[in-house]
Amino acid sequence: MVQAITGKVLSNELVAPDFYKLDVFVGSMAEEIKPGQFVMVKVASGLEPFLRRPISINSVNIKERNLSLIYQVIGKGTKLMTNIKRDQNLEIMGPLGQGFTWKGTDKTAVLVGGGCGIAPLVALAQELKANDKDVYVLLGAQTKDRLICEREFNKVGAKVQVATDDGSWGFHGFVTELLERLLAQVKVDQLYCCGPLPMTKIVTRIAEKNSLPCQVSLEERMGCGIGACIGCVCKTQDHHGKIDYKKVCTDGPVFDSREVVFDD
Ligand code: FES
Repeated sequence: MVQAITGKVLSNELVAPDFYKLDVFVGSMAEEIKPGQFVMVKVASGLEPFLRRPISINSVNIKERNLSLIYQVIGKGTKLMTNIKRDQNLEIMGPLGQGFTWKGTDKTAVLVGGGCGIAPLVALAQELKANDKDVYVLLGAQTKDRLICEREFNKVGAKVQVATDDGSWGFHGFVTELLERLLAQVKVDQLYCCGPLPMTKIVTRIAEKNSLPCQVSLEERMGCGIGACIGCVCKTQDHHGKIDYKKVCTDGPVFDSREVVFDD
């Protein structure tokens, strides 16, 4: 159930250039969260900027009733978020949207993440590992110092591979090349993807080519986060190819890749 709460900030720290990790005590909200969902965070008191910011949930500690959010500083709102201090009250609404799903019969999953899109895959890897899945994680970043969460994936026991654009860490090239190599070697039941649109499109094409189910989390600009402003629509199609438009905030952010129409 969606809650609007006042959480207590535990920390707000720089984890990579332009990337911050915000840990918040959220009480019973922690029990409701599914991997891939997001929250709306009120960035600052007063009217400016008056909108809340959608931030994906990086991980949850149900016992401690905390959640971790990772955000990238890309505009005025997220810049203001860097001023959030420990012990500060924070207005949070969530959990929102449809998260990732998995089947009991799946044995092996591959998670492909790029940039800030890596963040929500941590919660997914934790859940899949807790349910005895074999989990491969492929991470893409521009450079080694802009790579986030590698340690968290290693900690949960996922098999992690990294690709960087400049070759400063792991494979020198695109994470989608790592995916093609892996699929040539390992039998995979389910793909998951979150990251920049060009990467998501390529992962979707690779999934189609290999006849693999793939869930993609779309990063879309959002206003309200609750289906009211129509500011986040994406083009979709049903099994018969009939075109429709869905709201990323309430119908997604996670979609079956076959459902999404990526216009070139
Ligand atoms: Fe308002 Fe999706 S963000 S409808």
